[in-house]
Amino acid sequence: MPKTIHLTSNNSSLVLKIGDMPEVLHWGRRIHTIDADLLASMERAVSQARLDTDIPLTLCPESGRGLFSAPGIEGHRVGKDWAPVFSLVDSSVENELTEQRAVFTATDEVVGLRLTMELQLDQETDVLQKRLTLTNISGQPYTLNKLSNTLPLPSFATELMTFFGSWIREFHTERRDLMHGSFIQENRRGRTSHENFPGLMVGSKGFSEQSGEVYGFHLGWSGNHQLRVDAKSDGRRFFQAGELLLPGEMILAVGESYSTPWLYGTYSAEGLNGLSRRFHQFVRNEILRFPNSQRRPVHLNTWEGIYFDHNPEYIMQMAKGAAEMGVERFIVDDGWFIGRDHDRAALGDWYLDEVKYPNGLEPVIAKVNELGMEFGLWVEPEMINKDSNLFRNHPDWLLELPGYDQPSGRWQYVLNLQNNDCFNYLFERLDHLLSRYNIGYLKWDMNRELVQPGHEGHPAVHGQTLAFYRLIDQLRAKHPAVEIESCSSGGGRIDFEVLKRTHRFWASDCNDALERQTIQKGMGYFFPPEVIGAHIGPEEVHSTKRRHHMNMRGVTALFGHMGVELDPVKESVEQKQGMAHYIALHKTFRDLIHSGISFRLDSTDPTRNIYGVRNDDETLLAVCQTAMGSYTLPEPVRFAGLDPQRRYRVTVVDMPTASFQLMKSRPTWMEEGVTLSGDTLMAIGLSLPLLDPESAMLIHLQAQ
Ligand code: DGJ
Repeated sequence: MPKTIHLTSNNSSLVLKIGDMPEVLHWGRRIHTIDADLLASMERAVSQARLDTDIPLTLCPESGRGLFSAPGIEGHRVGKDWAPVFSLVDSSVENELTEQRAVFTATDEVVGLRLTMELQLDQETDVLQKRLTLTNISGQPYTLNKLSNTLPLPSFATELMTFFGSWIREFHTERRDLMHGSFIQENRRGRTSHENFPGLMVGSKGFSEQSGEVYGFHLGWSGNHQLRVDAKSDGRRFFQAGELLLPGEMILAVGESYSTPWLYGTYSAEGLNGLSRRFHQFVRNEILRFPNSQRRPVHLNTWEGIYFDHNPEYIMQMAKGAAEMGVERFIVDDGWFIGRDHDRAALGDWYLDEVKYPNGLEPVIAKVNELGMEFGLWVEPEMINKDSNLFRNHPDWLLELPGYDQPSGRWQYVLNLQNNDCFNYLFERLDHLLSRYNIGYLKWDMNRELVQPGHEGHPAVHGQTLAFYRLIDQLRAKHPAVEIESCSSGGGRIDFEVLKRTHRFWASDCNDALERQTIQKGMGYFFPPEVIGAHIGPEEVHSTKRRHHMNMRGVTALFGHMGVELDPVKESVEQKQGMAHYIALHKTFRDLIHSGISFRLDSTDPTRNIYGVRNDDETLLAVCQTAMGSYTLPEPVRFAGLDPQRRYRVTVVDMPTASFQLMKSRPTWMEEGVTLSGDTLMAIGLSLPLLDPESAMLIHLQAQ
């Protein structure tokens, strides 16, 4: 019997056959016995008019082996050494309490390359991690064009759910069948991007929130990437993901290595809910460097309230209004540093604007603290305006290709973080801010994409991304208590690798609650609510000019890391009371939302978005009517994840206060609540009121 390795977790198995190169025989549902009969039953036939032997799809498919699919590795030495075929020289398996790990090393002595393949299966969450490392062991440099992580998919995995988006419209999803050929997503924007989130799902036809067998993937990387799903002509399928390397970006010197970003994947037999449950728990256990027990304070961020118009006296009035509403952290956004009166100047000059703040920042911080709130500050360290002292003194610090004029983005350019002087300047400035002022939180922004990103003439997205990580890491080492938000014109830099060194994402610059329903749902497949920054904006949305009443805004922001994004001084008493109400509700349910299991419920009516969070004893469910309902009677909501034997007290926590146009009378259970058993709530469900379009209700279940 050929050698096999079986990694297991609570619900999944990864079975590898160890030949010349490791091949995944099975990844998915947990199995128990691996024996010669199983292996015999899995052997493939060899068809006519093809190569005479079976060619395995290995952990790094090689074209040189005769696999006519996208190879896992591509590169050359000045046009030679371009078709490596590896042979395994070492394999090891480690069984640790929390994960099982297999490491394989293979070499190709002809071309002089060594390949290391790492696989880790997390016991509790079933999340599989994979990474490849290539080392140049020959006497000449090796140009690496591509090194990607490949994992096979079962033949039933014919339907894809992919992500697309743009500024103020992140995390939209698209479904498509893939029966033949390839789906390819390339991100060439130099940051994770709004357009190409590095993740997708692929599963059985028609998989839904609650049903179907489905695989979820995410590449933890904040630069360029390529993802692909292929259905080969022989019916085998695979997923592949890696960094997209620009021409000449990765030239390995003798002895040098390149490691791919980590690929994260998991399998669920319970539809998308099973995937998000696994990813969320994995993020909580393995990615976040944030004590799970620590509460996430409610924010007020000044951006949409005052934009660049900073006046410390006025900001202190805003802080007072914020504290009165129950805000716990107050963040001064863009506009505080010297010469930053609009978006065309000053980026790079990280010194307080003493014209705007003649008495310094200290009185504002003191006021914020005195009101019982923590103080946070906005920065955008990687950027520079040409109208800045920094550019006038260091025009050579730009990330660019000399001899060209690259287009600006939001009137700004990118700094070359691989330039040590530039890196050190940024570190010194950030360190100074954090050392001098009582700052508990940094909103770290990044508002443009990379064009001709050159370092010493070579493509530098890879190096820039690593240097960005290094800058945050260095800062965090010195100021470990400071929390950092990853923001990039909203959701342009959202991924697991940046989350290892930050604490929260600004999900979108769109505070339109209706748009946010879609954005937060898409983002919520991978990220737990506590890292999804979700703010209540003013009644008239700045980005879309739509108007939403408080209920829709409040319920939508409730299921994230909540905040408000407006000027409390200008808001009416009624609006402020509304915000205070939802902030208080958020605090009531914060522990549940930030530690429970998030889920979504399938509905036959596409105008309803039903989602919630549960733990063993409680469920909080939001029913959001995104448009006019499809039916004159809404279908009952059938709950999930309850204990069939237990009884639950069901109450309405929140309803729109506006008059109902569509209903003469509500279901009677809404008056005083009802107590029902888990099995009836799951089998029969609960009758719902008719909600007006763009409104939402909250239902609470408490186990008795
Ligand atoms: C883009 C961010 O997404 C906004 O929230 C705000 O911080 C602005 N930048 C400030 O310039």
